[in-house]
Amino acid sequence: MYIKSLDLCNYRNISKAEIEFDPGLNIIYGKNAQGKTNILEAVYMCSTGRSHRSCVTDKDIIAFSEDEAHIMLRLGLPYTDKIDIHLDGGKKKTINVNGMPIQKLGDLFGVLNVVFFGPQDLQLIQSGPSERRRFMDIEICQINNIYYYNLKKYYKILKQRNNLLKDLQKSKKQYELLDIYDCQLSECGVKLIKIRRSFIEGLNLFACRIHKKISSGAEELCIEYKNDVSEKDFISKLKKNHERDIVTGSTSHGVHKDDVVFFINGKNTRLFGSQGQQRSACISTKLAEIELIRSERGENPVFLLDDVLSELDKQRQQSLINAIGDMQTIITCTGIEDSIKDISSKSKIFNIKKGKIL
Ligand SMILES: Nc1ncnc2c1ncn2[C@@H]1O[C@H](COP(=O)(O)OP(=O)(O)O)[C@@H](O)[C@H]1O
Ligand SMILES: [Mg+2]
Repeated sequence: MYIKSLDLCNYRNISKAEIEFDPGLNIIYGKNAQGKTNILEAVYMCSTGRSHRSCVTDKDIIAFSEDEAHIMLRLGLPYTDKIDIHLDGGKKKTINVNGMPIQKLGDLFGVLNVVFFGPQDLQLIQSGPSERRRFMDIEICQINNIYYYNLKKYYKILKQRNNLLKDLQKSKKQYELLDIYDCQLSECGVKLIKIRRSFIEGLNLFACRIHKKISSGAEELCIEYKNDVSEKDFISKLKKNHERDIVTGSTSHGVHKDDVVFFINGKNTRLFGSQGQQRSACISTKLAEIELIRSERGENPVFLLDDVLSELDKQRQQSLINAIGDMQTIITCTGIEDSIKDISSKSKIFNIKKGKIL
């Protein structure tokens, strides 16, 4: 899979751009705050319908002082799909695939598969569990849209249950409703647990092999899914905690408390790994994600490497570069420094300044 072109209009600081990508390597370079990440963000939007940055609203994306923004992305052969996203400050965004509006966001998943790797992804192991859940959710959604619908449903029921818990603090009138929500939440949650477990198992197989290679055979990486409740005790855990949940007005157990744990040579990497080991494990995980998408989809995703090479030492840079192969890759960096000199001769190079491709 590769992206042929990307046209942007009033997208953040990019008032107009028409970019023709190479099916292989692309390097976008420029000083800080010129719009490099914005370009990758726009590509990512076409894959997932939202920004890779958390807490971004559609409005944030529209250029300051403009009312609308537009993204148009065309895929290259054998696909000729066209993805159009139109953002209107006052309205819900519209997403068209081949000129037809999609009815549900889940219908967009899989049209364009990308793997985004930015500096924040190097923090995956050190950051909190919510970041690791977000990682799992985003990746699974790309390969399984049933998961996406279940996840949406789960969070809707969770919100309803939490609202009810708050109401029950004042009056016990609707207590029976809690049992209904328990059933619905656990039914939906059990499906999510199954999919998450199988995703992490698949990811682990690839990550373990990749990490062994990266560490020259010295380290065994193991990624484990740590579900907060099991399929069997989901509902009983909810029931057991009714009183506590009413006091806090929130649901203390469920898949919204899940985590992913990384081990190197049997030791928890978050607690005992060096910063270097944690970074390597993050790289292995990203590369495993690529392999997983490749095996599920039967083709390469597009790899978006946002300013990450400069953060890494030579050896880790090389592990990433080696993994690129013939996969379309868009790399952003502040300059054509040593880290990418070797590959820049094979790349299409773009220079960006104040939102303009020079
Ligand atoms: N909605 C917006 N309208 C105009 N400019 C924006 C908007 N959102 C962000 N920007 C600008 O985009 C620039 C950051 O772009 P970014 O792609 O993150 O830079 P970098 O080249 O460092 O990756 C900043 O100058 C910021 O002010
Ligand atoms: Mg950037």
